[in-house]
Amino acid sequence: MTAVTSITLTQPDDWHLHVRDGDVLKYVLPHTAKQFARAIIMPNLRPPVTTVALANAYRGRIEAQLKASGITGFTPLMTLYLTDNTPAEEVRKVREAGVAGFKLYPAGATTNSDAGVTNIKHCYATLEAMQKEGVPLLMHGEVTHAEIDVFDREAVFIDTILEPLRRDFPELKIVFEHITTRQAAHYVRDAHTNNKNTLAATITPQHLLMNRNAIFAGGIRPHNYCLPVLKREEHRLALVDAATSGNPRFFLGTDSAPHAKGLKENSCGCAGCYTAFNALGLYAEVFEAANQLNRFEAFASFYGPDFYLMPRNTKTITLHKVAQKVPEELPLAETVVVPLRAGETIAWSLAE
Ligand code: DOR
Ligand code: ZN
Repeated sequence: MTAVTSITLTQPDDWHLHVRDGDVLKYVLPHTAKQFARAIIMPNLRPPVTTVALANAYRGRIEAQLKASGITGFTPLMTLYLTDNTPAEEVRKVREAGVAGFKLYPAGATTNSDAGVTNIKHCYATLEAMQKEGVPLLMHGEVTHAEIDVFDREAVFIDTILEPLRRDFPELKIVFEHITTRQAAHYVRDAHTNNKNTLAATITPQHLLMNRNAIFAGGIRPHNYCLPVLKREEHRLALVDAATSGNPRFFLGTDSAPHAKGLKENSCGCAGCYTAFNALGLYAEVFEAANQLNRFEAFASFYGPDFYLMPRNTKTITLHKVAQKVPEELPLAETVVVPLRAGETIAWSLAE
């Protein structure tokens, strides 16, 4: 059999993305918009995007930058940051405003999550309204208790938060975001749901490509540090299995999270990998290595819109098996960001 040297697929979407705000937008949006038609925009700004009014304003700033950059054909899908005090009435407004869902950050779980949920019970009236209106809950699935080992926080979240939540709200649409463990992959694969499109998970390129050794290879590697943190090889293998299995519950979400180089290379470095530069090339490597390139398109381009009940894209894009050099750093407003794989190559590149 001859090796595949190019693949053409329906244009993908990124179902989990951080683009930040202000001057940074100009530097990160072009990378994403070159590859993806739509992206779910995370609301963990400072202050967080907690209301429809704030989401509309944020969308306006993103759209203004897209226009200024001459970018067409890219749609930001906005989300709201769920807090202990989000009123149930906000859910109806979300539907009307075309906001894609609410993001649950357990308080203190990650970057700008201090305003997050301290106890999920505080959100029950709002979750009830979301279930009724079919508004998805996107969640950062980690508990935050200091006494729980950082590598166990996702698995503990499943048992103590997710499973009870699904019992109380069996029809609530849930996206378990950026899963990192065998437990999460198997939970999502095996969960019983009454309806299709009730439970799904996104998977990042870094969790498919690396295990936790990558954070400590010859010294501390801050650019491979993200949350949830990379896990053991057995977990990476379970994620690859899930992503390449053809199961529609698993789809693409990069979690590309730009931080200034100096905030990563720091005595208390920020969590997040900047993968937007050539995320599709990274994912293509995963599917190729698993000998499942034929399943790449559905993971990248079909299962996400199907879950969110949005139309699939109609345009196509092509990737060539041509190695692309990743720059050591990329401009980020007044500073620089170090992309994942900086100084190395990615085996696939997007056709111009
Ligand atoms: O690594 C991460 N970075 N994980 C998150 O959950 C947040 C993100 C960010 O905003 O930087
Ligand atoms: Zn994220």
